[in-house]
Amino acid sequence: MERHSVSAGYPSPTTLWEDPDVAQSNRYRPGREHTSRTYPVVPPIYQTTTFELDDLAYEDIQGTGGLHETWYSRFSNPTVAAAAADLARLHGAQQTLMAASGMAAIATTLLTLLRAGDVLVASRQVYGDTGDLIERDLPRLGVTVVRIDAFDTDGWRQAIATHRPAVVYGETLSNPQLRLMDIPAVAEAALAVGATVVIDNTFATPHCTRPLELGADAVVDSVTKFLAGHSDVVAGAVSTNDPALHEEIQRRIITFGGCLDPHAAFLVWRGLKTFRVRLTDACRTAEKLADAMAQAVGVSQVIYPGRRDHPDADDKVGRVMPGPHGAMLTLVLEGGDARALQVLRRLAVAIEATSLGGVETLASVPFNSSHFNMTPQERLDAGILPGMLRLSIGLEGEQVLFDDLRRAIRAAV
Ligand SMILES: Cc1ncc(COP(=O)(O)O)c(C=O)c1O
Repeated sequence: MERHSVSAGYPSPTTLWEDPDVAQSNRYRPGREHTSRTYPVVPPIYQTTTFELDDLAYEDIQGTGGLHETWYSRFSNPTVAAAAADLARLHGAQQTLMAASGMAAIATTLLTLLRAGDVLVASRQVYGDTGDLIERDLPRLGVTVVRIDAFDTDGWRQAIATHRPAVVYGETLSNPQLRLMDIPAVAEAALAVGATVVIDNTFATPHCTRPLELGADAVVDSVTKFLAGHSDVVAGAVSTNDPALHEEIQRRIITFGGCLDPHAAFLVWRGLKTFRVRLTDACRTAEKLADAMAQAVGVSQVIYPGRRDHPDADDKVGRVMPGPHGAMLTLVLEGGDARALQVLRRLAVAIEATSLGGVETLASVPFNSSHFNMTPQERLDAGILPGMLRLSIGLEGEQVLFDDLRRAIRAAV
């Protein structure tokens, strides 16, 4: 029997591409279809690995290693660039580099800045995986690490003057104690010895604190959290005002491979559009909820940087986070960790989940999540108290969240 042939009379796809005239005229050229005066309101997702080359692209590849031209998406991509430009504006930064995750941003930045023989002075209270990088990986590469409590400003000054580090690293706001690092004071001490200051601003966000304006050289973010804001994308960023530093880190994002995917970048870009509105609402709710919970039965302590009883209220809050005071709130519940877990399990609106910064309120207890690998005594020494319940405030409004918490506390045995 004769085999089925491609519809008689029509050229097969192969024939199409074999005819150079047809190939030229019929080929879809993305980006060039836009001939009207009008432009899209929303940027297209350039879901492409590569870009058609021209002489200028070759010139850039041969001249700078391809840093300034769009020719391959691990180096640059217009959708990723759109997200980076908007995040740079939020930070008041000259430039922002996007990365595949907060950890990609942090690891790439530290590995760019540190070499064997260097000293890193770092906060004791950092995100767990950053802690692993600092304690496990950097010493293997010959970096000496000195740890200081985030809130101990004299300790920072002393360690920086004594050890003359290459890099100083900390987080604006620690988890879950919500203690502040005095970024201007630490940056001043670092400047005196020529150290580069890198700040993780994930918890504070540029709505509340802009570390570059307080003297930091680079700010790293887990964009996964409040910046993207919808619990639907993992992303990171490094922002600087120093073109040379930017280029050094950019080269490592390229060689270490931690670039952001264009589709993820689109979700980041879309999330950033509502960042101010989301954070304005969430911070206001957190502030009101903090005061309401301070009066609630079953709550022994409320930790929120906007409250007068916060341990940093007298000095650092005014300098680092004068207001708004963020959308993270930590409660210490009566009855210890077991009761905090019972309360957590009885919440109906807030969701029991790790991570933070979404439009939905997320709740967790440090003893079984962020700090599970510490003994109760180690947690106590680190200021992580029995009964702590961490809340990342979303957009539900304070009355809904207050009712949810009060009901769960009453129901917990
Ligand atoms: C303060 C802080 N920094 C960095 C990270 C890491 O970010 P990512 O999960 O986007 O890699 C996290 C994640 O929870 C975090 O809380």
